[in-house]
Amino acid sequence: MIFLTLLPPLLLLFGQTLADVVQNGTACTVTPLSPTPVPVGGRPPDDTPQFLDAFRRCGTTSSGGSVTFTEGDFYLGQIMDVINLQNVDISIYGRLTWSTDIQYWLSRSIPVTYAQRSTAWRLGGTNITMRGHGKGLFFGNGQLWHTFVAHSQNVTMTNLDMNATSATQWTTVNTDGTNIWNSRDIRIANWTVTSGDDCICAKGNTTNMHVSNITCYESGGMVVGSIGSIPSQPDYVENVLFENVSLNHSSNAAWIKTYPGNGRVRNVTFRNIRFSDVNQPIYISPCIYTGQNCDNSRLGIQNVRWENITGTSRYNIGAGIHCSAAAPCQNLTFSGIDIRQKNGGAP
Ligand SMILES: *[C@@H]1O[C@H](CO)[C@@H](O)[C@H](O)[C@H]1NC(C)=O
Ligand SMILES: *[C@@H]1O[C@H](CO)[C@@H](O)[C@H](O)[C@H]1NC(C)=O
Ligand SMILES: *[C@@H]1O[C@H](CO)[C@@H](O)[C@H](O)[C@H]1NC(C)=O
Ligand SMILES: *[C@@H]1O[C@H](CO)[C@@H](O)[C@H](O)[C@H]1NC(C)=O
Ligand SMILES: *[C@@H]1O[C@H](CO)[C@@H](O)[C@H](O)[C@H]1NC(C)=O
Ligand SMILES: *[C@@H]1O[C@H](CO)[C@@H](O)[C@H](O)[C@H]1NC(C)=O
Ligand SMILES: *[C@@H]1O[C@H](CO)[C@@H](O)[C@H](O)[C@H]1NC(C)=O
Ligand SMILES: *[C@@H]1O[C@H](CO)[C@@H](O)[C@H](O)[C@H]1NC(C)=O
Ligand SMILES: *[C@@H]1O[C@H](CO)[C@@H](O)[C@H](O)[C@H]1NC(C)=O
Ligand SMILES: *[C@@H]1O[C@H](CO)[C@@H](O)[C@H](O)[C@H]1NC(C)=O
Ligand SMILES: *[C@@H]1O[C@H](CO)[C@@H](O)[C@H](O)[C@H]1NC(C)=O
Ligand SMILES: *[C@@H]1O[C@H](CO)[C@@H](O)[C@H](O)[C@H]1NC(C)=O
Repeated sequence: MIFLTLLPPLLLLFGQTLADVVQNGTACTVTPLSPTPVPVGGRPPDDTPQFLDAFRRCGTTSSGGSVTFTEGDFYLGQIMDVINLQNVDISIYGRLTWSTDIQYWLSRSIPVTYAQRSTAWRLGGTNITMRGHGKGLFFGNGQLWHTFVAHSQNVTMTNLDMNATSATQWTTVNTDGTNIWNSRDIRIANWTVTSGDDCICAKGNTTNMHVSNITCYESGGMVVGSIGSIPSQPDYVENVLFENVSLNHSSNAAWIKTYPGNGRVRNVTFRNIRFSDVNQPIYISPCIYTGQNCDNSRLGIQNVRWENITGTSRYNIGAGIHCSAAAPCQNLTFSGIDIRQKNGGAP
């Protein structure tokens, strides 16, 4: 009540400022246009223009700048293609809600050149830091890969929570926690993901990736792939380490899935993976989704290590390993594997 009575005069005084980005040198601060929480399906004023304005003013300087989104509810009704950032610290304290106008997103979202995917917000440049300070929240109102890293180098993503839980009777699909593609030197740590699809995933041409301390619910687990879908474009995945991962109810735990294509998976380690209620914990498939041409794949799988893998399997299956006859797997090693039946019984 106090808020309501105070607000009109405040708006009169600071109306101009509220609707604007406040800039101090190369530090920009953005406050939501609408002071109230965004109602489900509602259409409050669109904060997109001031997001873009703040990035333009404070996100592209050679001397370094910052963009701060304050606490409160931001409403985003349009795509944001922000690919020229440099030397910027982005802080997000508020809650970002994207509009539910599916027709708009279908026609306008930005293609990311992978598997006909597209995004509402593309962020790119050099020397970018984005922090949520334990408060920032993205509410996407839909099914999406939560994050997608493409054509990037030296990316660290830590302390993220994601949750795609269906609000209807339909289960969620394609709600992967993250996919890394054509990128190198990636560090992912301290995530909690409820996804309904792959949790952490290295796709084609991922090199040097370290994943640690991840908890996933309802997921596909730790995944290399799918890769090799376009035979004329070889996919390489090298030097990937997944460690200290806990999985609760998922299809797989430590999984390499390829199409019968070209390329190579080499030097992948799955270590200290603990899980409960997983369909097929350890799995290699050379012909994912079609089950055809399985022995014709020329995508080699080499030097893969499963170490200290413990937990329970839903269907009394510990591992499923199928390697292509045309490119047999080389140097797969297993140690400390303890997989038991979910409902008791022999390991
Ligand atoms: C602008 O930034 C400078 C340096 O960070 C700070 O000293 C000053 O108080 C700021 N001014 C306002 C109005 O916030
Ligand atoms: C990276 O950006 C930060 C934040 O703006 C800045 O302080 C730092 O100097 C930049 N680093 C380099 C190497 O330019
Ligand atoms: C990678 O990014 C970190 C900051 O996250 C920076 O300290 C480091 O110098 C960068 N390394 C390279 C090789 O650019
Ligand atoms: C994810 O969201 C659902 C629905 O809101 C909730 O029941 C579940 O506890 C959440 N999971 C986590 C790990 O927070
Ligand atoms: C993970 O979280 C812990 C506890 O908050 C923190 O000490 C650690 O630095 C984090 N790891 C990374 C890589 O950020
Ligand atoms: C693991 O990440 C969680 C947050 O997801 C954090 O609370 C915890 O301290 C981290 N543990 C370590 C050993 O970094
Ligand atoms: C992966 O990289 C190779 C060359 O390094 C390239 O030929 C290929 O097209 C890339 N694959 C994809 C799917 O982008
Ligand atoms: C294998 O991958 C790990 C983890 O990324 C890395 O530390 C190691 O140097 C790689 N080994 C070789 C021989 O490249
Ligand atoms: C993973 O867990 C092991 C055993 O608890 C610990 O020694 C190691 O430091 C952890 N690694 C990371 C990167 O957190
Ligand atoms: C798995 O998650 C369910 C519900 O979120 C919980 O009841 C159960 O205790 C969890 N199991 C383990 C082993 O963490
Ligand atoms: C095996 O992994 C578990 C976590 O799943 C960890 O607590 C334990 O320390 C690991 N054992 C060794 C020998 O690293
Ligand atoms: C087998 O793979 C491991 C990594 O898992 C590697 O350290 C080792 O050198 C490989 N051995 C051969 C003969 O390539």
